[in-house]
Amino acid sequence: MSTSDDRRLIEDYLPIEAISKEASREKSVRKGHISTLHLWWARRPLVACRAAVYGALVPASRFRPQNGPEEKRESQTRANAAKFVERLCKYPGDAQVIAEAQRHILEAHAERLTQETGKKVTVDEIVEGRAPRPKVLDMFAGGGAIPLEALRLGCEAYALDLNPVAHIIELCTLVYPQKYGKPDKNSKGSAEDGTWAGLAEEVRHWGNWVLDKVKAEIGDLYPPIPDPKAPKTRQVLGKAQLEMTGKGFQHSGQQKLAVETPAGYLTPVAYLWTRTVRCKNPACQATVPLVKQTWLCKKAGRFVALKMVAPKGKKKVLFEVVAAHSEKMLGFDPEAFSKGGNATCPFCETVADVAYVKEEGWAGRIGLEMMAAAYSRHRKKGGETRGATEGKVYISVDDIPSVLDSDDITKRIGTICGKTGLAIPSAPIANLPHDCNENSLGIRVRPYGFRTWGQMFTQRQTLCLLTFVAAVRESERVMQENEYDAERTKALVTYMGAMVDKLADFCSTECVWNYTGGRGVKNSFGRQALAMTWDFSETNPFNEAGASWVAICEDTPAAIDLLVFDGKMVSEVSRGSAMSLQWSNASFDAVVTDPPYYDNVPYADISDFFYVWLRQSVGHLHPEHFATEGTPKKGEAIADPNRHGGDSENARKAYEKMMAQAFAEAHRVLKPNGQMTVVYAHKTTLGWATLVDALRRSGFTVTEAWPLDTEMKARLRSMESAALASSIFLVARKRGNAGAGSYEKDVQPELERIVRERVETLWEMGIGGADLVIACVGAGLRAFTRFVRVDYANGEEVPAQRFLTEVETVVLQTILARLSKEVGGKQGLASVDPATRFYILWRYTYRSGGLDAGEAIIFANGTHVELDGLGGLSSGARPLLEKQKATFRLLDYTERGDNKKLGMPSDDGQPAPLIDALQRALWLMEKRPGHMADFLREAQPNLEQMRLVAQALAGPALKGGELGEVATGTELAALTKLTTNWRSVVEDAAEAAEGPLFRATRQRQ
Ligand SMILES: C[S@@+](CC[C@H](N)C(=O)[O-])C[C@H]1O[C@@H](n2cnc3c(N)ncnc32)[C@H](O)[C@@H]1O
Repeated sequence: MSTSDDRRLIEDYLPIEAISKEASREKSVRKGHISTLHLWWARRPLVACRAAVYGALVPASRFRPQNGPEEKRESQTRANAAKFVERLCKYPGDAQVIAEAQRHILEAHAERLTQETGKKVTVDEIVEGRAPRPKVLDMFAGGGAIPLEALRLGCEAYALDLNPVAHIIELCTLVYPQKYGKPDKNSKGSAEDGTWAGLAEEVRHWGNWVLDKVKAEIGDLYPPIPDPKAPKTRQVLGKAQLEMTGKGFQHSGQQKLAVETPAGYLTPVAYLWTRTVRCKNPACQATVPLVKQTWLCKKAGRFVALKMVAPKGKKKVLFEVVAAHSEKMLGFDPEAFSKGGNATCPFCETVADVAYVKEEGWAGRIGLEMMAAAYSRHRKKGGETRGATEGKVYISVDDIPSVLDSDDITKRIGTICGKTGLAIPSAPIANLPHDCNENSLGIRVRPYGFRTWGQMFTQRQTLCLLTFVAAVRESERVMQENEYDAERTKALVTYMGAMVDKLADFCSTECVWNYTGGRGVKNSFGRQALAMTWDFSETNPFNEAGASWVAICEDTPAAIDLLVFDGKMVSEVSRGSAMSLQWSNASFDAVVTDPPYYDNVPYADISDFFYVWLRQSVGHLHPEHFATEGTPKKGEAIADPNRHGGDSENARKAYEKMMAQAFAEAHRVLKPNGQMTVVYAHKTTLGWATLVDALRRSGFTVTEAWPLDTEMKARLRSMESAALASSIFLVARKRGNAGAGSYEKDVQPELERIVRERVETLWEMGIGGADLVIACVGAGLRAFTRFVRVDYANGEEVPAQRFLTEVETVVLQTILARLSKEVGGKQGLASVDPATRFYILWRYTYRSGGLDAGEAIIFANGTHVELDGLGGLSSGARPLLEKQKATFRLLDYTERGDNKKLGMPSDDGQPAPLIDALQRALWLMEKRPGHMADFLREAQPNLEQMRLVAQALAGPALKGGELGEVATGTELAALTKLTTNWRSVVEDAAEAAEGPLFRATRQRQ
């Protein structure tokens, strides 16, 4: 196989729409997904990773039909590939299809090995371990999605990450399930006969062991309370009463087991808290709640919220639970409390402004008040799933018959720390000096006095997490006593350490109340950041309904079950820097990786939240990864100004340098015919310039780019720029020995050829809008990046930013030509004025989405218009674009059409842009149809061209299916009406106007 016919599927075609759809669906899967093992930010969907690995290793020719007319074979090849890849990229996946994919990969690999070694290598030899499997590296592996898919597809997977938390997740995802997944009669374990019951089962067993132990220790801190609806039960069930009566306890040897909520009692789901400050007014000094909103339940037909009451003469508010059938009937606004940290004192109305709140916080004077608690009433009948309840019951703190004894909790924290050597986490938040009260990337709690990780938890949460960690450590001792194999013990305890992390995610003061339902308590990291919370919910870790250890004990084994593959799959997980890889030259068949993107996610800083617990639960088992107080920050590839004395420019440069170094390393370890795919978070092409340049300088040719939606559809839609994919898969290869190229001779003709071919074929495959532009720009980059440098005829080098513009220009021109073909017409759209061309292409690419200025400039250059300044599209009396801060947005006819001068020739007789005339005509059609004739007579637009533009804007290419409809709304409807009724709306009016130009135009038609 020569390099020329070694074109891989990912270099030719991927059914991106189908993969995106499935990836979005996968994001909403909770049960059994690897994301339920441990949180990692921006994990990529498995199906997208699967497509990337498969596409990188299988030749495009695999799907080429042997027979049939030659001219149809190309499209048939892609249709066949699409069919298979769509079947392969289903979550979780069909075993048979995956086996077939493995065979495709091994067949291609055997052929490549034969070429490499000069000796025939067969698939059987690979399967039997006599020849190597394809090696796939992810050097920024994070939560391990890419290596997992490489493993699933029968490759040797190599995962590298700098972060110890990521490393632990990767061990749990990639290594342990393959080593210890299956039951084993030769190893000690928890099966009835005392042997290893399989990893998932062992984790379930020991997770429950820990649960029982912890519940016996601290179960009294989450007491069931008498159900107000069951009048006979009056007594609060605290630890003392339970021990006295023995009610509900079971015994297993010496071990006290879980206490069940007796009939007539309610189980706590969560306790709801507000932060507080002392009133600023010296004459008042009341306690001011900082709560932002008090919704408890907001569902159709059920509206429950807390009403704040400030009793006269008192210094503390009361919270009353109010329920109503409608929002209005509540009689107050549950969202009218603190705003951005500014709160009004309910007693004297003095505002505790945010500066004061920060001051108080920094001095350690932000307090906590419990407002209410949510309970569940269990269904009476059995046979339901875990935690089946009759909905939540909300009770004001004043009606809860037991108060938290904080002295007792403090004492118990002291006792457990003294006994076990564990400690309240004291590592600094954001790795900043103790006296630094500034925000850092994504972390906004320090100005309020939250300096150490231990401060992110209430006392009870701290005691709870410490008790779980202690029980996990204790379980290790018991496993050893039971003569468990040391490595298996290490694996089990590591999972339980990860489970404590997961509990911490649901057990901090970052967890707000989900008043729309579900398990109630939201996790700490709904976003990739740590924001200040003014009110939060404290979960009951024993609550069966979720956000608890009980749920984690089910979710973790369910995820493990799906990670145990057939066959002897091998993966290597290591911790280190992508900037200096430990592997020898030319050792990998593919690198598929998803690097951090500038300052998007402060991985090291936020992962310290977990690290501080993991270090205590499993640090002794992995001492080489937990030697320091926090995660390593220095070698992290991130553009964080804090690490560069606040200098953003230096931070950016440092990040780019690191990425260039990492790509150079990838180039070194990749085989000469190896394949590299880089997942890129930036949605638009502007951000690519640096990355593409770094790839090119490291010796790569960029061959393709595939836009894939890797986030949930709901989120995508909520972004105005609905048409944009959430990540780009950039495909690259080692370049070989090409020297400098001439832009005019070598690059331009090739660029046009590639782009023309790409636009035609992808259009035929149904790809449109921004996806088409991105894919074509990616392919067009090949023309440039196959050279070390590209020079213009005058000897000047084409800079990275410039070649991106050049590619985008060619892509947009080609798309416009293709759109012209769609709408017919003799002259096509190419001859319409630049502003109108710009309008059509923007609508085609971005629908109604806004575009940041940098990207908009590239787009404008590509269409030969100016955005700002004299004659710019966003300036003048009738701008086509609106500029808001650094974002441009296209205005539609509803926003421009009522301007009488719109579409009229300028004072010197120059015709207005056609888009102006068209938008004015749309507005008149809708609002003043009787004025249409006058307008046409005065404006004298070229009706033939105007009709083409209207057709292009209303046509199926621009509607773009589901997303298109979302984006273009009203104008699209008006355009459709206008094009459908062209004769009656426009031509008849033109006829009535009797202008000579119209007669002439009509005759031409
Ligand atoms: C975008 S994430 C990868 C996410 C992953 N694809 C997933 O699905 O979970 C980027 C990763 O790069 C890691 N990282 C940052 N700097 C690094 C370096 N110098 N070497 C290796 N890994 C690094 C971060 O810890 C983070 O896990």
